[in-house]
Amino acid sequence: MITPNSSAPDGANSVLEIWGRHSLSGQVQISGAKNSALVVMAGALLCSQDCRIRNIPSLVDVARMGEVLLALGVKVEHSNDTLTIDSTHLSHSRAPYELVSQLRASFFVIGPLLARLGVARVPLPGGCAIGARPVDLHVRGLRAMGAEVHIDHGTVHACVRGSRGRLQGARIYLDYPSVGATETLMMAATLADGETIIENAAQEPEVVDLANFCRAMGARIRGAGTNTITISGVPSLHSTDYSIIPDRIEAGTFLIAAAITGSEITLSPVIPDHLTAVIAKLREAGAEIIPEVHNRLRIKAGPQILATDTQTRPFPGFPTDMQAQFMALMTLSNGNSMITETVFENRLRHVGELVRMGADIRMKGNCAIVRGVPCLAGAPVTATDLRASAALVIAGLAAEGKTQIQGLQHLDRGYDNLEHKLQQLGAKLQRIQAETTDEVAQPAEATVTTAAGE
Ligand code: EPZ
Repeated sequence: MITPNSSAPDGANSVLEIWGRHSLSGQVQISGAKNSALVVMAGALLCSQDCRIRNIPSLVDVARMGEVLLALGVKVEHSNDTLTIDSTHLSHSRAPYELVSQLRASFFVIGPLLARLGVARVPLPGGCAIGARPVDLHVRGLRAMGAEVHIDHGTVHACVRGSRGRLQGARIYLDYPSVGATETLMMAATLADGETIIENAAQEPEVVDLANFCRAMGARIRGAGTNTITISGVPSLHSTDYSIIPDRIEAGTFLIAAAITGSEITLSPVIPDHLTAVIAKLREAGAEIIPEVHNRLRIKAGPQILATDTQTRPFPGFPTDMQAQFMALMTLSNGNSMITETVFENRLRHVGELVRMGADIRMKGNCAIVRGVPCLAGAPVTATDLRASAALVIAGLAAEGKTQIQGLQHLDRGYDNLEHKLQQLGAKLQRIQAETTDEVAQPAEATVTTAAGE
């Protein structure tokens, strides 16, 4: 069984206390990428032998994906940061609702199950705090590859008719360069009959990492990392030993923690090309970013934080998973910044909590106008989703006095030992057991400025 190696009290029943205004220094180790680990674990289902996957971060989400694979009859062994996944005896085509409902990414098993078994039954992942998160592009693509797909009582039932029970190669245009849909269809196409071309595909580094993992198992994939991916199906895939990429979002989070506390730190391993937009925006905000040898990146905060507008976009645009953290930085800038969220329809819920800490932010639709203030004040706040929790930690590091963050179950889903790493850099913070529910502050609803400016 995979257990996140954290001895701290579990997220839902604990509070993170941060004493702000301490600069950071030293070097921080960046873990493997959450959004690679999850999809590569699903991708291991494509192989009828065992696969070894290294550099796996210690996260609640990884543990949950492990449970989904076990429920499908797959063997999963975990030691340190390495997983051995043996799908030789993959037997079940139904992913259990109680597991899928806890982890949206478990929907990624639909492609590999259909490709390997010719049938898959996966509950709809449903919406989450940041948006409705439909899977219509996944379904449309699988249908284009010859699968019969219908949704019944909240479950997606997919099967491949015909004697050979194999998916057929197809040309698929994605209306939106969805990361998940690109990954689902790319995995399904690896064992399909013929060639599949995915147009307007997602270009995220995690998509490329998945393609490289599949190629290491013998898949024939070209063009990953561009907007057109071509997959020539093969009859089967073989075992491999693969190490996933470092987490660019964890790295970006530490870069902003350094910028907001006026610090100089080094991060490794980091692949700078995975962070081009983030580095560009941090430089625009006055920080110095220096790529060093051996995948090391050094950041030196500027004398002041310069107001900087940004808009989230699919890669290579500014990542939506860095929007909340960047907003936290802009709360202390020397002017007004406009932050526009274009990827998810409900990903500004951290605004109310930052305002609770003294930030001056007005919202207009999917846009937040952030007026820089001289300082933030520590306060009890509640995280509403994974990246919102990181933004509150960053704000707490810069705030006057003590900040208490609830809702740490969000943080534990996607950050590997964040507190320990920050303590190593000199931050003053600790996780304590939540005494009473009274300590559970409710997230504030941010003031929405409509045309009438109420
Ligand atoms: C992946 O989610 C990541 N999750 C997200 O990271 C990340 O924010 C997102 O990509 C964008 O970069 C994992 O990899 C596990 P999408 P995914 O499909 O695949 C719409 C984090 O914080 N859409 O690219 O679900 C969708 O509603 C998480 O680590 C459809 O309309 O993202 C959204 O508005 C959060 N129909 C947009 O596309 C579909 O069939 C982007 O979604 C699929 C998506």
